[in-house]
Amino acid sequence: MSAPLSDVLDRDATEGHPALEIADVSVSFGGINAVSDVSLTADNGMITGLIGPNGAGKTTTFNVITGLQPPTHGRVFIAGQDVSKLPPHKRARLGVARTFQRLEVFGSLTAYENLLAAAEFHRSWSGDSTPPKDVARAALDRVGLGSVAEARVDSLPTGLARLVELGRALATKPRLLLLDEVGSGLSHEEVHVLGDLMLDLAKEGIAILLVEHDVELVMRVCSRIHVLDFGLLIASGSREEIQQNPAVQAAYLGVEEG
Ligand SMILES: Nc1ncnc2c1ncn2[C@@H]1O[C@H](COP(=O)(O)OP(=O)(O)OP(=O)(O)O)[C@@H](O)[C@H]1O
Ligand SMILES: [Mg+2]
Repeated sequence: MSAPLSDVLDRDATEGHPALEIADVSVSFGGINAVSDVSLTADNGMITGLIGPNGAGKTTTFNVITGLQPPTHGRVFIAGQDVSKLPPHKRARLGVARTFQRLEVFGSLTAYENLLAAAEFHRSWSGDSTPPKDVARAALDRVGLGSVAEARVDSLPTGLARLVELGRALATKPRLLLLDEVGSGLSHEEVHVLGDLMLDLAKEGIAILLVEHDVELVMRVCSRIHVLDFGLLIASGSREEIQQNPAVQAAYLGVEEG
């Protein structure tokens, strides 16, 4: 896992651009504006938070970034490249990986096999010469699942199955990692270890966009935070700015505490 950056992008062409930029993205489902004119960025080597109450539009935003949800309007740039018209698998090849709030694992496969499948896919298009078995084993150890490598994923508690998804994402050597409530279902201790892992990944240069309801985790690891409420971006800033922002307290932190 020492070379996290995708080989596919031309480094020179991407220099100076944020890992992710979305510009004026809106999504409406029938009459509901799930996401309204949202613009935000996530930088390499940083953990960026995307928080907000239930139904604020966080997962929908992830779906737009990964290409699973076409926006009503707006654009998505990965390392400066406009990917708005690219299908999900082509975005993955640019180094985008994610976990899913509603788990999307191969339940009848073992934890190791889930990661191996991802590593095999990655090798098939990246030209990476590291044996997929080694990639999968390293990613499994990295997320702390070495001891359950041979367990079927549908036999694991949800919290650990989420870590399988994180390991699977890492097995594709992402440059932009989107984590949708990856800590939910884990113990306080396990969440702390997960936070350490995210900080290590960021140090290696990966851009992480973190959707998370655990405010303590968000405030510990995120350098910058964007706040959504009813599809609108109501604040962006450092953790101190976000903690002190009255609109955020009213919309989100107040709700959590109340
Ligand atoms: N496929 C869909 N069809 C219709 N409405 C949808 C669809 N997906 C999401 N929505 C609606 O869009 C809004 C935003 O949902 P979204 O799942 O993005 O919120 P969220 O911030 O991820 O919430 P949570 O914290 O509960 O996961 C909600 O009102 C939701 O009901
Ligand atoms: Mg969600």
